[in-house]
Amino acid sequence: MQIGLIGLGNMGMPMSKNLLSSGYSVRGFDLNKQALETFAAAGGEAAGTMEELVENCELILTSLPSTEAAESVYLGKDGLLALCPTSVVLVDTSTIAPEMELEIGKQADAKGVSFLAAPVSGGVVGAENRTLTFMVGGPKAVLEGVQSHLSTLGSNVFHISESYDSGTNAKLINNLLIGFYTAGVAEALNLARESGLNLEFLFNVLNVSYGQSRIYERNYKTFIANDDYDPGFTLKLLNKDLRFAMDLAKQRGVDLPMSQALVDLYQDAEDAGLGDKDMSVMYERVGNQSISFKAEKERLT
Ligand SMILES: NC(=O)c1ccc[n+]([C@@H]2O[C@H](COP(=O)([O-])OP(=O)(O)OC[C@H]3O[C@@H](n4cnc5c(N)ncnc54)[C@H](O)[C@@H]3O)[C@@H](O)[C@H]2O)c1
Repeated sequence: MQIGLIGLGNMGMPMSKNLLSSGYSVRGFDLNKQALETFAAAGGEAAGTMEELVENCELILTSLPSTEAAESVYLGKDGLLALCPTSVVLVDTSTIAPEMELEIGKQADAKGVSFLAAPVSGGVVGAENRTLTFMVGGPKAVLEGVQSHLSTLGSNVFHISESYDSGTNAKLINNLLIGFYTAGVAEALNLARESGLNLEFLFNVLNVSYGQSRIYERNYKTFIANDDYDPGFTLKLLNKDLRFAMDLAKQRGVDLPMSQALVDLYQDAEDAGLGDKDMSVMYERVGNQSISFKAEKERLT
C-alpha cells in the first residue's frame, strides 16, 4: 500500500519510519530539505512537490505545525483537495484550530474526498514506540476503513464524533491539562530543590504517590534530570494549543481564569526566547526567575 506523509518533523519522522518498518511504501514531503534527506536515508521516497507526493497514494497523513501550514497543504492552489482523486483518504494528525478542521472537512465533503481530523497524543516517544492515542473527528465509516493502518502508529484510536472538530476539541482539553501539569512540575520541583530535597529520590517517592503524573515523569526523567531541553514538544506548540483552548472557552462562554494565567505564563516564556525548547524548560525559567527575585529582594533589604 502506498502511503503519503506530509510534515516530517519531530512527530512525522518517527511515524514515517514506523510505517516503513511495517512494510508500507511511504512517500514523504516537507519544506525542509534536511528532513527529506533524513527520510530518504531511512528508506522513504522523498517527493519534490505535492503533485509527486499524491501520485498513487491511497492514504495521506499530515503532521503540520500550524493552522496556516494545514490551510496551505489542504486548501491551497496546489493543495491536497485540489490534487487528490476521491479514492484517497486524508488524515490530519496535527493539532490546529478546530475551525480549520471544520473548513477542511466541509470542502473535502463538497469534493467527495474522505477526510479525518485525527490529532494525536503521546509525544515523540509515543510516535517512536507506536503508542500514540488518536482522537478522531469525522465519519466513522471512513475511520473503519483506515483504522488498521492508524493502529500501526498508535495503541489507542478513539472515534470522538462525526463532527470534524471533535477530535481536536478533545485534544485541546488534553493539552490544557498538559499545560497545567508542566507549569506545576516546574514550580514544585524548584521549591523541592531549594528546600534541599534530592529530585531523583523525590521522583521515586512521588511516583508512587498522588503527586505522580505522566507529565511529571516525562518532563523530569527525559529533560529536567538531564538538563537538556532539546524538543520533544516545543513550548511554542504547547502555547499554540493553549491559545486554541482559550478561543474555544470564549466561544462557549466558559470563564477559565486559571487557564488564562497559564497562557500568560507560557506567552511570557515564548516572548523571552524559549519557544523552540521543550515545554519542560519552564523548570529552568522558574529557577532563573527565582534567582532574579532573590537578588531584587536582597537589593531592597
Ligand atoms: N512534538 C510533540 O510531542 C507533539 C505531540 C502531539 C501532537 N503534536 C502536534 O503534531 C504536529 C507536528 O508537531 P511536531 O512537533 O512534529 O512539529 P515540527 O515543527 O517538528 O514538524 C513540522 C514539520 O512540518 C513541516 N512543514 C511546515 N509547513 C509545511 C508545509 N506547508 N508543507 C510541508 N511541510 C511543512 C516542517 O518543515 C516540519 O518538518 C503539531 O500540530 C503538534 O501540535 C506534537
